[in-house]
Amino acid sequence: GNARFTLDADFTVGEVDPRLFGSFVEHLGRCVYSGVFEPGHPAADGAGLRTDVLELVRELGVTTVRYPGGNFVSGYRWEDSVGPVEERPRRLDPAWHSTETNRFGLSEFIAFVRRLGPEAEPMLAVNLGTRGVADALRLQEYANHPGGTELSGLRRAHGDEEPFGIRLWCLGNEMDGSWQIGAKTAREYGRLAAETARAMRRLDPAVQLVACGSSHQAMPTFGAWEATVLEEVYELVDYVSLHAYYEEVDGDRDSFLASAVDMESFIENVVATCDHVGARLKSGKRIDLSFDEWNVWYMSRFHEATAEPSAEWPEAPRLLEDHYSVTDAVVVGSLLIALLRHADRVRVACLAQLVNVIAPIMTEPGGPAWRQTTFHPFAQVSRYGRGQVLDVRVRAPAHRTAAYGEVPLLQATAVRDPDTGAVTVFAVNRDQHGSLPLDVTLHGLGVTRVVEHTVLADADPEARNTRDAPDRVTPRPVAGTTLAEGRLRTVLEPLSWNVVRLV
Ligand code: AHR
Repeated sequence: GNARFTLDADFTVGEVDPRLFGSFVEHLGRCVYSGVFEPGHPAADGAGLRTDVLELVRELGVTTVRYPGGNFVSGYRWEDSVGPVEERPRRLDPAWHSTETNRFGLSEFIAFVRRLGPEAEPMLAVNLGTRGVADALRLQEYANHPGGTELSGLRRAHGDEEPFGIRLWCLGNEMDGSWQIGAKTAREYGRLAAETARAMRRLDPAVQLVACGSSHQAMPTFGAWEATVLEEVYELVDYVSLHAYYEEVDGDRDSFLASAVDMESFIENVVATCDHVGARLKSGKRIDLSFDEWNVWYMSRFHEATAEPSAEWPEAPRLLEDHYSVTDAVVVGSLLIALLRHADRVRVACLAQLVNVIAPIMTEPGGPAWRQTTFHPFAQVSRYGRGQVLDVRVRAPAHRTAAYGEVPLLQATAVRDPDTGAVTVFAVNRDQHGSLPLDVTLHGLGVTRVVEHTVLADADPEARNTRDAPDRVTPRPVAGTTLAEGRLRTVLEPLSWNVVRLV
C-alpha cells in the first residue's frame, strides 16, 4: 500500500536550532593532524589549516564544533596546547594510545572555527576526568577574559588579543563509561559537575553548560544516571548530553535501517527523565538535550583491531577510519530526521566526527580531500532543514525487524522556512527491495511547485566514495514527483534517502 501523511502549517514541532548541525573535532587518529591541520600540504594556509578541508566543511554546513574530545578530554592539559609551538610538550595520550605533539591547540582550533563563517561556534569540553573545578576556571579565564589578569594576559602574549568568546561548554565527557579516564558514579559526577558549573557561572553567568548524560541508551546505569546527575545540576546547567552510534550487526540490514527507532526512544526517554526530575524539584526550568555525539560507527571492527595491547605510541595513527556506504548514508539521513522530529528539545547535536575519524570528510596526507556518502544527507539537511519542523504522523506499511519489532517502511519529517514559505520534505524508504509510493496532503502551506526531488540510492547499496572515485555516490534528481491541488505524489526508491523541495 501507499505511505502517507498530512502537513499542516498550524501543526508544528518547534524551531530548528542552528546548533543541530554541529560536528566534532577530537584529538583522535587523523581528525586533527592531516585532517583539518597539515602544514606543508599544498592546500594549507599560513596557519597550517587545509583550505580544501575548510571548503568542504563550509559546504557541509557545520555550525557548532565540539573540541578537544571525546575520551581525549579526560587527560587533556589545555596549557600544553597554547603558546609557542616549539615549546609545547609531546605527551602520551592514554585514551587513544597515541603521542600528542600539541602542534595544534586551542588557539589553532579557534582560528579554524572562525574560518568556517558567521554561524560557526566552538563548544569546548573541560576535563572532569583527571582534573576539576580549578582547572576549568583557569581555562575559562584564559579563553574568555578580556585582559588584566595573568591568564588572560598569557593569551594576549600568545598572540590572541581578542578573547575566544566560548559560550557553550561540556562538563566532561562520558563520565559514566568504564573506559573513561577518571570515570565516576552518577553522584560523584553530579557533585563535581555542579561545583564546576557554579564556579564557571561566577566567572560568567551567561555560560551555557552541558552535563554528561549516558554514553548510550544500553548503559546499565541509563536513566538512573541522568536522574541522579540532574538532581545535583538541574538549576546550574542548560543541557544534558546523549551519545549514540549505530552499525549493521550480523548482516541484519533491516534492523540497521531502523536505527532511528532507537535514537527517537533514547531522546524521548531522556526528555521524560529531565521533566520528571524538574517536576520533583518543583522547578520552572526546562533542561534541553545536546546529542553531542551521533553517527554510524563500525565499533566492532575498531574493537577487533585494538584487541591486542600495543607497545607503540604513534602520532596521528589511522584510527576509526570507517568508509561509508550508500546504506550508511541512508541511516545517517534517518538519524537526521530523528533529530529534526525532536527539534523542540534537542537543541544541540554533533555529528561525530568531522574529518577522517568516523567522518563525512576523508583526506590523504599530502593528497586530496573528498566527501563520503554520509556527507550528502548532512549537507542537505543543514541547508534546507532550517525553520519550523512540521508535525509529521506517518501512516505506512510496516515490516518486522529483529531489533525493534514492527517498524514503518517510511520515516519522514518536513521543515518550513518562515521567511520564504518553502517546505522541504526529508524521507527514507527503509524497504531494501521495494519502491514505496508516497502521498502527502498539504494544508495552509501555500506551496504550489516541486523545485527538486533528489535521491541517494544505488543498485549497489554497498557503493562507497573513494579517493579514486570521490563522486561515485551523490544525490541525483528524480523525475515524476508532482504537486497539484494540495497533494504531493511521488515514489521512493528502495533503500533511499530523499529530499523534496516545495515552494
Ligand atoms: O567519537 C569517538 C569516541 O566515542 C569519543 O571519544 C567518545 O566520547 C565516544 O565513546
